[in-house]
Amino acid sequence: MKALTYIEHGKFALMDKPKPTILDPRDAVVRVTLGSICTSDLHIKHGSVPRAVPGITVGHEMVGVVEEVGSAVTTVRPGDRVTVNVETFCGECFFCRHGFVNNCTDPNGGWALGCRIDGGQAEFVRVPYADQGLNKIPDSVSDEQALLVGDVLATGFWAARISEITPDDTVLIIGAGPTGLCTLMCVLLKNPKRIIVCEKDPARIAFVHEHYPEVLTCTPDECEAFTLANSDHGGADVVLEVAGAKDTFRLAWTCARPNAIVTVVALYDEPQTLPLPDMYGKNLTFKTGGVDGCDCAEILRLIEQGKIDTTPLITHRYKLEDIEEAYRVFENKLDGVIKVAVEPKNKNSYRLGQR
Ligand SMILES: NC(=O)c1ccc[n+]([C@@H]2O[C@H](COP(=O)([O-])OP(=O)(O)OC[C@H]3O[C@@H](n4cnc5c(N)ncnc54)[C@H](O)[C@@H]3O)[C@@H](O)[C@H]2O)c1
Ligand SMILES: [Zn+2]
Ligand SMILES: [Zn+2]
Repeated sequence: MKALTYIEHGKFALMDKPKPTILDPRDAVVRVTLGSICTSDLHIKHGSVPRAVPGITVGHEMVGVVEEVGSAVTTVRPGDRVTVNVETFCGECFFCRHGFVNNCTDPNGGWALGCRIDGGQAEFVRVPYADQGLNKIPDSVSDEQALLVGDVLATGFWAARISEITPDDTVLIIGAGPTGLCTLMCVLLKNPKRIIVCEKDPARIAFVHEHYPEVLTCTPDECEAFTLANSDHGGADVVLEVAGAKDTFRLAWTCARPNAIVTVVALYDEPQTLPLPDMYGKNLTFKTGGVDGCDCAEILRLIEQGKIDTTPLITHRYKLEDIEEAYRVFENKLDGVIKVAVEPKNKNSYRLGQR
């Protein structure tokens, strides 16, 4: 089968590899019907994920059809359409039992797929702990509708969940990339009084205006004054930092009102400063972390009910054989790209009305 492989720093290549097989009774093999590219794939390519193993197949955002299951798998069977979770988790350790699946103590716990073990920018992928890592896609949900469930949408859902948003709140979201937009969709479900999105790219601001006209927007330069003018208590009640740029951590806490919650979704290339003397008396609560991606079943229900729709984010479509071109466009943010969908050859993805 064809598989996009991490060769060395700066280089991915589409290679022929053997089809994966079941290695553990809890594994499943999934025939990938649609995949995507994530900013984290670019981080591997650029060498900023030291634990990524050269030679592995990259890709951790995909949906597919179960091809084969190990003897201990109980929740899915061959032929089921499924989303694949970016995180591998056992479901049994202390952290899994508390919903902190990102910290699963299994040696492959956390983000392993497409990083430390073979991922899904390929025709097939082996998924460990398939009972945890796979969720059945309802028949009324297409592959494109489900594509982002296991990674960026799970991240937005988790970020909105931990931010303790109430109907009286003004919520500031910094960054309207794929993850920020997924966060926005999940924050909208909490019905806060106001949402402000701060983004530097005019095309992405226009995207927010087009799809979410009720949301206020501002640029980074005007963000502090704009948030002050459009909130009730001297700043945002909740801030979600989803940009990860040089100055956005500082922007996040300066725009927060006293006693606000500041949720840091972004991952930074450099250490950030927490200047406690400058924020003395603001009594802020910071929440940070890698996504605990254990809400995929609930997210799929919300998609089925029409409450979340990430399909407008899929701006570009490619065949797996053209994935290097898909990377070029995604990496350089060309042609207004937000997310790409990549379809393996001869493995037509599931569209509505197909069954
Ligand atoms: N915590 C997690 O588990 C998790 C999961 C997924 C993504 N992330 C992180 O979330 C962040 C966003 O991911 P993405 O895929 O959307 O990436 P992205 O790079 O496409 O999005 C970042 C957005 O922020 C905007 N931006 C840059 N500087 C800005 C500024 N000063 N003010 C406002 N906006 C600014 C960019 O124009 C872009 O639209 C990244 O840091 C990523 O690593 C974290
Ligand atoms: Zn990702
Ligand atoms: Zn665990």
